Amino acid sequence: MHAHSEKIIALESNSTSFIININDSGPSVLYWGEKIAASTATQVVTMHQRNMGPGTASKEVPILLCPTHGSGFMGQHGLSLHRSGHNWDMHLSDIHILEQTAQHVIIKLSDSNAGVSLQHNITLDKETDVLICNTSVTNNGADGLTIDWCNAGTLALPSFIDQVTGFHGRWANEFQTHKTDLNIGVYLRENLRGRTSHDSFPGLVAHTKNTTEQNGPAYGFHLGWSGNHRIAAEKMFDGRSFVQMGEKLIAGEVILPSGASYCSPKLYAAFSTSGFSSLSQKFHRFVRTKLLTEEVRKKPRPVHYNTWEAVYFNHDTLTLQTLADKAAEVGAERFVLDDGWFSARRDDTAGLGDWFVDHDVYPEGLHPLIDHVLGTGMEFGLWVEPEMVNPNSDLYRNHPDWILKATDAPHIRSRNQLVLDLTKEPVREYLYERIDSLLSEYKISYLKWDMNRDIHHPGSDGVAANSAQTHALYALLKRLREKHPTVEIESCSSGGARIDYGILAHTDRVWTSDSNDALDRLNIQRGISFFFPSNVMGSHVGPRDCHITRRILSMDLRAATAIFGHMGMELNLTELTSEETETLKTAISLYKKNRDLLHSGNHIRLDTKDHASAFAVVSECQNEAVFSYTQIKTCDETAPETLFFIGINHEKSYTLDLIWPLGFTSKTAGDISRLNGHIFSGDVLSKVGLQLPHMHPETALVFMLKAID
Ligand code: DGJ
Repeated sequence: MHAHSEKIIALESNSTSFIININDSGPSVLYWGEKIAASTATQVVTMHQRNMGPGTASKEVPILLCPTHGSGFMGQHGLSLHRSGHNWDMHLSDIHILEQTAQHVIIKLSDSNAGVSLQHNITLDKETDVLICNTSVTNNGADGLTIDWCNAGTLALPSFIDQVTGFHGRWANEFQTHKTDLNIGVYLRENLRGRTSHDSFPGLVAHTKNTTEQNGPAYGFHLGWSGNHRIAAEKMFDGRSFVQMGEKLIAGEVILPSGASYCSPKLYAAFSTSGFSSLSQKFHRFVRTKLLTEEVRKKPRPVHYNTWEAVYFNHDTLTLQTLADKAAEVGAERFVLDDGWFSARRDDTAGLGDWFVDHDVYPEGLHPLIDHVLGTGMEFGLWVEPEMVNPNSDLYRNHPDWILKATDAPHIRSRNQLVLDLTKEPVREYLYERIDSLLSEYKISYLKWDMNRDIHHPGSDGVAANSAQTHALYALLKRLREKHPTVEIESCSSGGARIDYGILAHTDRVWTSDSNDALDRLNIQRGISFFFPSNVMGSHVGPRDCHITRRILSMDLRAATAIFGHMGMELNLTELTSEETETLKTAISLYKKNRDLLHSGNHIRLDTKDHASAFAVVSECQNEAVFSYTQIKTCDETAPETLFFIGINHEKSYTLDLIWPLGFTSKTAGDISRLNGHIFSGDVLSKVGLQLPHMHPETALVFMLKAID
C-alpha cells in the first residue's frame, strides 16, 4: 500500500482487541482493550477523528509503533539510526502487509531512497490475550548503517491512564514496586548493567489512580531481554501517552553491513479491566502455556534441597551425603550441589572458569555423592557460572584475552571475577565442551546457571558487545538444551538479577532472590508475581536466623512463605530441632499434596492493611482455593481485620479449613477451629468474609476452601 491510503488491522484474542491503523505515516495503535467486534473496526476509525489543539501543527503526528524523525514525531523516538550522518530522517512510506491472520500480522515499511526497511512482527496470543511484538530494521543500502536505538514497540495508551507502577530493587531485595503519576514528561528507566538487573526489572504497569488489585484498568508491559534495556512511559504536551521498550544499545554496538538486520527483543503486553491481579493472571497463563517446555509443564515441580546456605564452600562428601539423607527424609526430591565443587574453589577468589571437579575435595569425582543422592530417590542438580572467570584460575592464566573489557580502562572486579567474552567462538566452544562433558559423565538432571556480576566493560576487541553477548548466551543455552533435553536449567544471577521472558525461553526456573528471609520474601514474591507464575519462582525455606537479614523467624512462617513458589530448602538440616524437622516435613507434604493447584491456579494478590500481606490461589474451575494471610508487624487496631475469600464462585458452597500452621493457638483460636470443616456459600465467604483470629506479628495463616458437590 502507498501514501494516502488507510488500512485497519483488527487482531483479536479471547477477550482483547488490538486494532492497528496504517496511514501514510505508518502503523499505530488505534484501539487496545476489551474485545469489540472486528466488523466495527471502521467505526473505530470514525470515532477516532482527532481534534487538534490551538497553536499546533497542521497535522497531528500519530504515535507510530515505531515513531521516527521522518514522521515528524516530537516525543521519544522508536528508532534512531544514520548512515554517516545521513538517512536519520528516512520516510518509511512504502508499506506492505507480509502476513495477516486474526491474531498475527507482519508489517513491512521501507524507504528505498534511504535503503532502510523496518518490520513489525505482532501477535496477539488467542488463549492468553498477551500481545507479543518486536521490530527489525534492515540495511538495504551499500554502506554501513548505524543503529543507535530500535524499539520493540511503542504502544499508545488510552487517555484515562494517569499512573504507572515500576519495579526497582537491589541484591537480596528485588521486585519492589513503586507507583508514580504519569505527568507530562517521561518516566524513563535505562539499564546498563549488562544483565536484566536487580534494580531495574524491564516491566511496567500503566493504570489509573483508582486501579486496585481487583478493579480498574491496567496495561502491563515486559521486555523479554537479559541485557541492557530502555523502558519509557511518556505523556506528551497534547495529553497523549504511550509506553515504549527496547534494548539499550551502546555507541557503535550495532553497525549493520549491507543486507544485515537488527531485531529488537520481544515486548510482551497485556490488558485487564479488572485490576492488577487479573492482568498478572494473563501473563502467568502465557508463561505456563507458551514459554515453558511441555516437560516442565507436565512434571510436578520437585522439592529442592540446595546446599549453599548449609555449607557454602566447605564441601566434603560425607557431610553432603548426610545432608542428602536428611533432605530425602523430610521430603526433598532434588538435591542441588551449589558453588564450591570445582578446582580451587575454596572461596570466591578462585576457580571460576576451571569446570573440573576438585579432586582434593572429591578424590573419586562426584560419583560417590551423586550415587548416594540418586540412591535416596532424589535427582541431582549442579551449580555452574559459565560466563565468569576468576583471574586466579587456569583458564584466565591460559587465556587472559578471553574476557570482555574496555580498551584501556583498568578492569573492574566484582566478587573477584571477570566476564568471559561469549562472542568469541573458542570461548563458547570451551564452555559447551565443559558443560556437555559434565552432563555426559554424571547423572545430572538440573543445572543452576548463575551469573554473579554486572558487566561494567562489555567490550569485545574494542567494540561494545553487550547485545552480542546476550545473544551468545541464549545460543549456548539452546545448544546445551538441544543436546540434553531432559536437563532442567535455573536462571540465577546473584539472586534475581536475570529474570525475564528472554532467559525463561531457555530455562525452566528462576532464583528469585538470595534473601530467604520469609518476611522480605513475601514482598519480593508479591512483586515478581506481577509477571511470573509461582511454578517458575524458586522459593526456599532458609535458616532460622536469616543469613542476610539476621532476622530470626519460625519454621511455621518460613514454610508458609516457601510453599507458594517452586518450593525448596536451603539450610543445614542437621541443626534443626526435632520439632522444626517435623514442621518442615509436614509443610513439604502439604506442598506436594497441593502443588497442582498452587502451580496452575489463578494467583490473586489481596489488598490488605499495611501490617499484613495476603494472597490467594484459586483453581481455574473455582473448586479449590488456598488463601494465605501473614501478619508482618503489629497492627494499629486491636481487633483483627476481615479476610474476604474473593475469586471463588458465588454459586458454589465450600468447606473452610485452616490448614497452616498445625495446632494454631491464639486468644481466639477456638473461634477459628470451630469453623473448620463447616460449609459456607461462596457468596458469604467472599462478601461477608471471616474476621481473622488475633495473630502475632511474623505469623501466617493458610486456609483451604473446597467446593462440595
Ligand atoms: C549467588 C546465588 O544467588 C546463590 O544462590 C549462590 O548460588 C551463590 N551465588 C554461589 O556463589
